[in-house]
Amino acid sequence: MTGFSTRAIHAGQDPDPHTGSVIVPIHATSTFVQDGVGGRRGGYEYARTGNPTRTALETCLAELEEGRHGLAFASGMAATDALLRATCRPGDHVVIPDDAYGGTFRLIDKVFRHWGVEHTAVGLSDVAAVRAAMRPATRLVWCETPTNPLLAIADIAALAHLAHEAGARLVVDNTFASPYLQTPLGLGADVVLHSTTKYLGGHSDVIGGALVTDDSELDEQLAFLQNGAGAVPGPFDAWLTLRGIRTLAVRMERHCDNAERIVAALRAHPKVISVHYPGLETHPGHEVAAKQMRRFGGMVSFTVHGGIDAALAVCSRTRLFTLAESLGGVESLIEHPGRMTHASTAGSKLQVPDNLVRLSVGIEDVTDLVDDVLQALAG
Ligand SMILES: Cc1ncc(COP(=O)(O)O)c(C=O)c1O
Repeated sequence: MTGFSTRAIHAGQDPDPHTGSVIVPIHATSTFVQDGVGGRRGGYEYARTGNPTRTALETCLAELEEGRHGLAFASGMAATDALLRATCRPGDHVVIPDDAYGGTFRLIDKVFRHWGVEHTAVGLSDVAAVRAAMRPATRLVWCETPTNPLLAIADIAALAHLAHEAGARLVVDNTFASPYLQTPLGLGADVVLHSTTKYLGGHSDVIGGALVTDDSELDEQLAFLQNGAGAVPGPFDAWLTLRGIRTLAVRMERHCDNAERIVAALRAHPKVISVHYPGLETHPGHEVAAKQMRRFGGMVSFTVHGGIDAALAVCSRTRLFTLAESLGGVESLIEHPGRMTHASTAGSKLQVPDNLVRLSVGIEDVTDLVDDVLQALAG
């Protein structure tokens, strides 16, 4: 296998054999000519079922996650929905992280519950607690690591072992780490899920999702749903995501460099109570993170003295960090999880602290970013 950046730039992206186009074309077509009934050129018939631009993206995603099969979806939530429907039936049970992404929790709690799929929320860094949450009907252990927004770490290899012992599958939402920092299939996970909206796309200009697996039977079921339910990305979305992916490695290195500097500044600040970043030796998941991640990523969260008002004030005072949901783009973002991305968890076991602030540290000049955070904290 070639190096990560070589795959990011070349996998699925050979020059177009017909025109010589070096860049994968945007195949803006809904249908494909047949040379006689059933005589498909290149295997394509209808663009919900398959489109060459999407194929290029799917091939590249599979290679980056070191998996055999990749499927692209219209959003991370569409990928989540397809995976849940492919693997769960009424009466089945799913174990989810107690600080899962709010949208994942909402889909499982507010939609799949009514289709007879039950769930238990548990802290995934506690393997014994996960074991205790497993039931005979458990089909999936849903893992995020690092988690959103508290940056907790789960031991992927240990969870894979535990899930398999119980006859369940392990899915890892690898959105926060990206395949540059972490490849869960090699650690025993059965499926990797992405919101490609984030680091993979990398420029906050496209929504997308992906599933990668080595399991051919599961891939067939997922592809059936991808086509049958139809939550596919259009060719321009697939192309934008692929273009972003080509620079993933250099972007991730810079995200990590900048996040480390921001973390150091936050830790030294008297208004900051705690800093959540798996790169810190004091982080309870640091050892596991160091074992399974190349570096520790661009996401940082922290709590401030003064409760929710102080946290909201910090969010409103930054000038470079833009107040917005989402993450993983080249530009730095700030948000208040309790009021924004994780508002749907209010009143549940997944509720986040109201003095928590989350940063998606971008790739701008780090001295400008540190100055901005410091002036926002100074008030
Ligand atoms: C960890 C994680 N998983 C999944 C999703 C859902 O992805 P999308 O917004 O692309 O549907 C998000 C979105 O923020 C996320 O942060």
